[in-house]
Amino acid sequence: MQNNVYQSIMDTLEDYTSKLSVVLPKIYGRKPLACINTYGCQQNVSDSEKIKGLLEKIGYDITDDDENADFVLFNTCAVREHAEDRVFGNIGRMKALKKQRQGMLVAVCGCMAQQERICERVRQSYPYVDILFGTRHIHKLPEYIYKRLTGSARIFDISEDFSEIIEGLPIRRDGKLKGWLPIMYGCDNFCTYCIVPHVRGRERSRKSCEIIKEAQSMVDAGFKEITLLGQNVNSYGKGLDEDINFAQLLRKINAIKGDFRIRFMTSHPKDCTLELLDAIATCEKVETHLHLPFQSGSDRVLKTMNRKYDSEGYLKLIKEAKERIPNVSFTSDIIVGFPGETYEDFKETLRVVKEVEFQALFTFIYSKRFGTPAASMPDPISREEKGKWFSELIKVQEEISKKKYTSYVGQTHRVLCDEIKENGKLSGKTLSAVEIEFEGEPSLLGQFVEVKVDRFTNILEGTKI
Ligand code: 5AD
Ligand code: SF4
Repeated sequence: MQNNVYQSIMDTLEDYTSKLSVVLPKIYGRKPLACINTYGCQQNVSDSEKIKGLLEKIGYDITDDDENADFVLFNTCAVREHAEDRVFGNIGRMKALKKQRQGMLVAVCGCMAQQERICERVRQSYPYVDILFGTRHIHKLPEYIYKRLTGSARIFDISEDFSEIIEGLPIRRDGKLKGWLPIMYGCDNFCTYCIVPHVRGRERSRKSCEIIKEAQSMVDAGFKEITLLGQNVNSYGKGLDEDINFAQLLRKINAIKGDFRIRFMTSHPKDCTLELLDAIATCEKVETHLHLPFQSGSDRVLKTMNRKYDSEGYLKLIKEAKERIPNVSFTSDIIVGFPGETYEDFKETLRVVKEVEFQALFTFIYSKRFGTPAASMPDPISREEKGKWFSELIKVQEEISKKKYTSYVGQTHRVLCDEIKENGKLSGKTLSAVEIEFEGEPSLLGQFVEVKVDRFTNILEGTKI
């Protein structure tokens, strides 16, 4: 981005920050509270951390309690219909709260808000929503708040004229141990079922120096796990002036001194190169885990989904990964009941699931997304029938997961202790992203611990050694 454009954005931000430092105390007579409700994927969680950083900068305290908040924001997801329904239900709750709370603002942003039809619905049917903005305008939030609080009409901003990456916004991370680090935004793949490219725009990568700087600052701040985020992380680097790809980026981050782990999501099979598999195998900080969505095992369905690989290519890739990466584990996303999918097609999905032996699966029944090509494809299979296929898939996977977990029994793994469970046990994940529970002192939280796996019940249980 041209330096002067960037400078003007930062200047505008500073300008509204200083204006709000006068306006907010006048309106609320104290530090106002902001509550952010986040739906959907990790990208949204990461965006919400930026939003919280901005809100703190302009003078809000952050709370989890929307009943006492002066500013309530819904950062929404549009990937499946179910998520949309939930959001509207929760926005509806704000009507009564707003009546009781003078000066309260309600805002909606994120992937759902970016869609014209949702914007109109909110405009017409949710008059108590003050501000609605899309996925490209997080940095303008202080401006929207200032304008609305000082008498502007309701604000709706889903324009698509701006898609630059803005570096240097404040971030208020939710944790101190594990953190998200976006390396790219948007998606160019246009899978025919998916709304993401329509709401998050074209793929843009961050400069590697910005990513390294942020990773280094996270390591300096004591983070022990950094998850690199993007809709398609392994096409990282496209369109940048520098000559860099995702494998090279991983190597650079791996070279940062310190004891920490690097995770990443999501990968697309078509961009998963042997160079990347080798980088995963040789970079000691990088997880030996691939979340590699294959969506369907049927080549015919994959073609109509516009996935740009076939089941043979996918299985070949998995075979290469198994050969090159010691103790590699796989997870995947699968869509059941894509328009036109037959039971024969579905059986192809089962075939791939059985052959790969995933650690776990994220399975979804196809959800029609307005504006995507798949939405106008004939979809004759009933929801009930799709549900049956779905249950069959879950059952097959349960057996595989059990087998995969059981293969860990007797092994020793270095886990990052990241949680104290309700039963008082500690829990941590292996480099291959598998969770193990074990007894230990709470002081181990945040540390790497060697654990020997004793048994698999419904979870792996082990002993600290
Ligand atoms: N219906 C069902 N699942 C979907 N996904 C994306 N779009 C849809 C849809 N319209 C799933 C894909 C993707 C994951 C994030 O969500 O499996 O990988
Ligand atoms: Fe959606 Fe496909 Fe892009 Fe993933 S790769 S965000 S499924 S269009």
